[in-house]
Formats: sequence, C-alpha cells, structure tokens
Amino acid sequence: MNLLVTGGAGYIGSHTCVELLRAGFEPVVVDNLSNSKMEAIRRVERIAGRKLVFYRADIRDRTAMRDIMARHGTMAVIHFAGLKAVGESVAEPLLYYDNNVAGTISLCGAMADAGVKRMVNIGADMGFEGVVALNEALRRPLEASSDYAEGINAFFDNRKPVFRGK
Ligand SMILES: NC(=O)c1ccc[n+]([C@@H]2O[C@H](COP(=O)([O-])OP(=O)(O)OC[C@H]3O[C@@H](n4cnc5c(N)ncnc54)[C@H](O)[C@@H]3O)[C@@H](O)[C@H]2O)c1
Repeated sequence: MNLLVTGGAGYIGSHTCVELLRAGFEPVVVDNLSNSKMEAIRRVERIAGRKLVFYRADIRDRTAMRDIMARHGTMAVIHFAGLKAVGESVAEPLLYYDNNVAGTISLCGAMADAGVKRMVNIGADMGFEGVVALNEALRRPLEASSDYAEGINAFFDNRKPVFRGK
C-alpha cells in the first residue's frame, strides 16, 4: 500500500518509516527539512535495507502535495509534519498557526483534490487549541510537569499559562 508520510525525516516520522518499510509498505516521504536532515532518510534506508521515495516539499504547497499523491497512488496519509517547540510556539504563535493549522488544512485540501480519504494525524498540537482539547480531555488534570501540560491546564482553566522558562 502506498502511504504518504509527512515529516518523515523527523524523529517520529523516520522511525515510523523504518517500520513501514520493514512491514512491506511503500512510504513516500514529504518533508521540508526545516527541522531535520537528509541524513535521516539515508539512515532509514540503511537500517531497513530498502530505498525510500523522498520529496523536499512543504505541506502548505497544495499543488505539490496533490501531484505527489496522484503520482504515487497514495491510499492514506500519516501526518507528522509540524513545528513542536513549546517556547517557540509562544514566542512565534503566527508561525505555528501558519505551519501547523494552515498546513494541515492545505494538506487536507490536497488530499481531497487527489481523492485520498484516510489520514492518521499524530498530533501537531502546537497552535491547535481545539485539537489539544479533544486529545487531552480524558487525561485532565495533567500534572503540571512541563510547559506543555501547563499550556493545556491553562486552556481548560481559561487563564493565561505561566511558563517556567519565561
Ligand atoms: N516527539 C514527541 O514526543 C511527540 C509527542 C507527541 C506528539 N508529537 C507530534 O508529532 C509530530 C512529529 O514530532 P517529531 O518529534 O517527530 O518532530 P520533528 O521536528 O522531529 O519532525 C517533524 C518534521 O516535520 C517537518 N516539517 C515541519 N513543518 C513542515 C512543513 N510545513 N512541511 C513539510 N515538513 C515539515 C520537519 O522538517 C521535521 O522533519 C509533531 O507534530 C509533534 O507535535 C511529538
């Protein structure tokens, strides 16, 4: 089965690609390498003993994404691409909304264009208040052990978060 893996050069995406290759899937990776290197792709290939199709592209480029999915007959998308640094997301919220929220919306549009109807979204949570609420609702209250947990707790308490790093 042909799968599109966004953010496949990143930490979780690259490990996932190793397992997908080993399991006989045909993952096609899209990554803009904003937080990763081509070396990760080479290492995935070395570990799995198989070649990986890689495109340096941005999920916000709807035309490119549609064309890649159409070219490879993509059946489903596993979506890891996103920015995830808590401190940076507070300092640069618009960057995070653009990359993670607008990026995911654009990716969904490209999927619709290409007739791809299945997505596994691993949770590019930064900037997605609604998604955080859905994902984390059952796990409340979180122990405030990290700025991430503090951000979620503050969201539910309808107050400004107090980040320890600030
Ligand atoms: N690492 C964790 O413990 C963890 C836990 C829960 C959720 N997540 C979520 O899983 C996702 C992946 O996490 P990770 O730790 O592998 O992060 P990562 O930064 O290692 O990987 C993300 C990849 O996405 C790429 N990317 C970012 N924006 C892109 C864009 N616009 N177009 C194309 N590629 C883009 C980056 O270059 C990078 O290779 C993130 O959304 C993160 O919030 C991570």
